Amino acid sequence: MTNVILRCTNLYKSFSLDKKGPSALHVLKGIDLDVQEGEVVSIVGASGSGKSTLLHILGGLDRPSRGEVFWGETNILTLTDETLAKRRGTNVGFVFQFHHLLPEFTSI
Ligand SMILES: Nc1ncnc2c1ncn2[C@@H]1O[C@H](COP(=O)(O)OP(=O)(O)O)[C@@H](O)[C@H]1O
Ligand SMILES: [Mg+2]
Repeated sequence: MTNVILRCTNLYKSFSLDKKGPSALHVLKGIDLDVQEGEVVSIVGASGSGKSTLLHILGGLDRPSRGEVFWGETNILTLTDETLAKRRGTNVGFVFQFHHLLPEFTSI
């Protein structure tokens, strides 16, 4: 029996842009993905194609413009930011390409 631990359906993400050019950049346009327990998945694409945007949304760091994200049976978009942050802290690991360190903190 398969066990889907991560699922997204019909995922869209657009970023609003400033007024000079087009009003929005449509990055994700209807992504469907199922990941089974124990499965190793690579997301491959040209620079700027939306890989990080997708991973941020799947990891609960950002919210999509449209669509659903499930961790197991839970639709994470129905969670409050606080509950989502707690679940993210216990369930998800990130290795950032850009590590977003805060200069005012030390590691001690
Ligand atoms: N916060 C943001 N605001 C506006 N545009 C963004 C933002 N984040 C990413 N983008 C744009 O979305 C597109 C996809 O970016 P990204 O997901 O980082 O691609 P990849 O990880 O595949 O290189 C790029 O054109 C990028 O400039
Ligand atoms: Mg990236």
